[in-house]
Parts: sequence; C-alpha cells; structure tokens
Amino acid sequence: PDFAPADLPLAGRHILITAGPTHEPIDPVRFIANRSSGKQGFAIAAAAARAGARVSLVAGPVHLPTPAGVDRIDVETAREMLAAVEAALPADAAIMVAAVADWRTADAAGQKLKKDGSGQPAPLVLTENPDILATLGHHVQRPALLVGFAAETEKVADHARAKLARKGADWIVANDVSGDVMGGDANAVHIVTADGIDTWPSMAKADVADRLIEKVAHALASRSH
Ligand code: CTP
Ligand code: CA
Repeated sequence: PDFAPADLPLAGRHILITAGPTHEPIDPVRFIANRSSGKQGFAIAAAAARAGARVSLVAGPVHLPTPAGVDRIDVETAREMLAAVEAALPADAAIMVAAVADWRTADAAGQKLKKDGSGQPAPLVLTENPDILATLGHHVQRPALLVGFAAETEKVADHARAKLARKGADWIVANDVSGDVMGGDANAVHIVTADGIDTWPSMAKADVADRLIEKVAHALASRSH
C-alpha cells in the first residue's frame, strides 16, 4: 500500500511473486495444466502486503480473490508469465511459487482438433517452456533475494539442493507432495539454502506465508538497501 507505515518490516520494498498454474493451449478449447490452486502464493502475497511491501503478484488461472493491497497481473501461459515477471522488475525479492507447466505444445492448433474417424489420435508434440526462476537467477536485474518453491514426491532435500544450484536461487522452499498438499490448506516445508536445511512443522499455508515473509524481511534487512 502507498501509505504503509515506515516501521513495517517490508516498508519501501518491492516483492514480486508468481502463483498458480499456467495453462498451455492445445487448441482453442483445450489446454495442458496442473493441480496448483494458487493458495500458497496468494497467501504469501497477502503476507507481504501486510508487512508493508509493494507487491506484484503474477497469477496464472486460479479462482482466488486478490489479496488487499496487492497489484495482480493475470496471465495464462508460461511465456506470458515470464514476460510479466520481467516487466515487473526491478524487485528487492522474488518468490516464485507458481507451478509453471514444464511443457507446452510445440504448435498450438488455431482451430479445434477433430477426430478423424481412424480411432488414432495425432500425437501431441511438446516443447519445454522457459524457466522463469532460472531466468531471474541469471538476470541483469536479479532481485537481491530469489526464492523458488519445489514440489517433490521423493528425495525432497536432494532435488531441492540441485534446483538451488541449477537455477541460481538463494532459497528453495521444498514441500513433500506425496500426501495431500495440492489444493489443501496446510503445508510442511523445508527451506533449503547454501547453508543447510531448515525444516518447519506442518502448518496452515497462511502461517507458512507469514513465517516466510518474516524470514525474507530479515534477510533483506541484513543486506544493503
Ligand atoms: N519454475 C519456473 N519456470 C519453469 C519451471 C519452474 O519459474 N518453467 C520455478 C517454479 O516456480 C519453482 C521452481 O522453479 O519456484 C521449481 O519448480 P519445479 O517444477 O520444482 O522445478 P523444475 O525445474 O521444473 O523441475 P521438475 O522436473 O522437478 O519439475
Ligand atoms: Ca516443473
């Protein structure tokens, strides 16, 4: 908010957040997507705004209200999300919570695909989407603090550490989605940094958001403005 009291922990900071899934068109009526609800990312955006930050929330297609005091930019595809993220720079911190579709169709059809009567559908040819987090990790306007999320079903810490290095992020918030996290209200996360792993107990997504924003504010305060 423009009138945030100067004593709030994120007063004067710009925080960039992605949330939700992306939808990748197959044809005008069909798309590739995933089960992300956007709840965790929206909760983090709300927490950042309450902490006094200017918040840019780049949101994929979700059914959630815009949190108070948050600038929301709606997008559909991974490529649109990347463009919106780059347009929102510079930011003091970026928290990439979106479950970006890893692949899109190589060539989305301009007209609705039809059955041809053979009983054999044409194969879908996929191509990899840009990695938004990795793009920011190596960007000339790289935010001072760059946080990624990782949903894993096994070897959570190992995979998170590998992503930290590969994407040039400062922290990876890793959650174990072998249970019922997608769409649920609670989350058990591990914060993986170059210094080690901090494991938080399972808590409501709103509490994960508050605690993460507290940690972000602390990290930014210990760096120069
Ligand atoms: N991410 C991104 N752009 C992509 C894919 C992922 O910005 N095209 C970000 C996510 O928002 C998240 C982090 O990267 O912050 C990790 O996402 P994840 O899907 O776990 O990583 P991937 O590199 O896609 O690896 P995987 O093969 O495990 O899906
Ligand atoms: Ca992925």
